[in-house]
Amino acid sequence: MVDLGKYFGHTKTSAGGGLCRCPKNTMSKIILNTQRLRLEKIEKSHLNDLYALVSNPKVQRYFPKTLNRNETKEFYEKIQNRYETDGYCYWAVVREGDNQFIGICGILKQEVDGQVETEIGYRILDMFWGKGYGTEAAEGCIKYAKEKLKKTSVISLIRSVNAPSKRVAEKNGLKFEKESIFHGLPHLVYRLLLKQ
Ligand SMILES: CC(C)(COP(=O)(O)OP(=O)(O)OC[C@H]1O[C@@H](n2cnc3c(N)ncnc32)[C@H](O)[C@@H]1OP(=O)(O)O)[C@@H](O)C(=O)NCCC(=O)NCCS
Repeated sequence: MVDLGKYFGHTKTSAGGGLCRCPKNTMSKIILNTQRLRLEKIEKSHLNDLYALVSNPKVQRYFPKTLNRNETKEFYEKIQNRYETDGYCYWAVVREGDNQFIGICGILKQEVDGQVETEIGYRILDMFWGKGYGTEAAEGCIKYAKEKLKKTSVISLIRSVNAPSKRVAEKNGLKFEKESIFHGLPHLVYRLLLKQ
């Protein structure tokens, strides 16, 4: 089993990294659309944007660390492996209209307390916080998990001090279920049951 805990786990370094506009020809890579956003497969063309995201100390505050360029490449490779093995993972969140990369959001297979769970994970660049994008992207992923993947339940794993993330979960109907140790750190498990 691939251990994604190091980078997909929840729990800091830094550097800037420019934000680029995504290429126009992305039709075949689109996973889902929401009112203002599209979620598309993360590809090599997203590497600089991905680095800008995961090297950002504000974005990574509740993760174990910020990632440098090499670690970002490893993170990228692990995402590609997950596309192969699971069929899903983090996707790039791109704003329709101006093709601006604003973050990543997706569906992650995780093991929590010995159970295989379907996690909704999200990270948005801080300059785009507070505009409803995190909630909107996560909602799109929940719909995808229900309708395409036929999942009966989704969770989010949230550090207790991460107020914005708790709000994203709550606004999408997830409810606090329990506390759990995930990759060595205490997390709150929020869950939404999906009626099929
Ligand atoms: C969590 C995150 C994705 C939310 O993204 P976003 O696009 O700002 O989300 P939204 O605009 O949909 O806002 C969600 C809610 O969080 C609230 N919020 C935003 N910043 C907040 C803050 N600093 N403190 C408390 N609440 C905050 C918003 O007000 C909103 O709630 P409201 O509608 O009740 O006002 C973003 O903060 C982020 O990327 N954080 C770093 C990565 C991370 O922690 N990911 C989650 C790991 S579990």
